Amino acid sequence: MSLLSNADKDHLMQQRLIVPIDFSSIQRVPESHIGAQCFDDSKINPDNEKSGASISIPIIDLEDPKALGLIFNVCETWGMFQVINHGVSKELLDQVEFQTKKLFNLPFEKKMKVLRAPGEDTGYGYPRLALFFSKQMWNEGFTIMGNSYHHHPKKLWPNSFESFCEVIFEYQTKMNDLGDKLKSLIFKSLNIPTPEEATLKDHNYAIHLNSYPPCPDSSQTMGIGPHTDTLLFTILHQSGNASGLQVYKDEFGSGWVSFNPHPGALVVNVADLLHIISNVRFPSAIHRAVVNNKQKQRLSFAYFYGLPVDFEVSPFLDYPNCEGLKFKPIKVKEYAILKLKYLDLALSFVRKSG
Ligand code: OGA
Ligand code: NI
Repeated sequence: MSLLSNADKDHLMQQRLIVPIDFSSIQRVPESHIGAQCFDDSKINPDNEKSGASISIPIIDLEDPKALGLIFNVCETWGMFQVINHGVSKELLDQVEFQTKKLFNLPFEKKMKVLRAPGEDTGYGYPRLALFFSKQMWNEGFTIMGNSYHHHPKKLWPNSFESFCEVIFEYQTKMNDLGDKLKSLIFKSLNIPTPEEATLKDHNYAIHLNSYPPCPDSSQTMGIGPHTDTLLFTILHQSGNASGLQVYKDEFGSGWVSFNPHPGALVVNVADLLHIISNVRFPSAIHRAVVNNKQKQRLSFAYFYGLPVDFEVSPFLDYPNCEGLKFKPIKVKEYAILKLKYLDLALSFVRKSG
């Protein structure tokens, strides 16, 4: 079942449609893209904006017997970590990169044929959070949900769409396996009982392919503005180890922390549903992507791992030193809708008062 019910498709249909520009013909950053700020950027300390400190995000070897304890610690302190020995081959990641490049390097008119309409799950366009920003982002994307994406590649490459679909299918399969493994480890680390876990089998997920085109002046614009992800966690691959992703780290006094991706590692970040389930123990990582100044295209593939749409999420309280309940129970699809409507204010609707 789709993450969005019909009622909410109606809501989405009423939204503005923001169409990416034709980045291939741009000589300088247009006014529309200068200084993208989120409506609620105010909660991010402006003094920290410039820092861009570079700190190493912890790397966890999934074959290490100590992985469980390490995951608990990094989820608690960072809400973000990198994984190696994750079971997704370099060959497959290279193929996803090849297909993604093929897609974004198509002429603009072709990409517009598969534009994601406001009520649709899949297609070409900006990330949905673009609606909340006063300026546009230096980004174009392609969203894929479940198996409902074949009609788009068919429109783009009528005689050779299979290779794109096969690679995406293989990628989905491998990412589902990795996601299941990470979910088990994370839930174990929170002492979430196994029977509960079994009911979470039919999770929903989405893939968002991102392209950050070469930019004439990277200091003027933002690849993807500050946000947290909606579902349980996100697994991100950055192509060619090109950096750009930053995580906000208040406690270190350093603000936005950049990190150079470890070759072959995938980045995992805690998202809102896990923040709720962990009863705030795991922070939902605030992150963004800056545009690199090398005038080179950067690609990233985000895989959003969810839970069944009708599953009711609420904090699990069976871990050491846990505090009282911080959130009210909410169904996954209801939370997804709140996020679409209110972005970073969505969590405040679920938070218990007092
Ligand atoms: C996202 C995201 C970061 C990146 O797609 O949600 O945060 O580096 N992407 O592309
Ligand atoms: Ni994100």
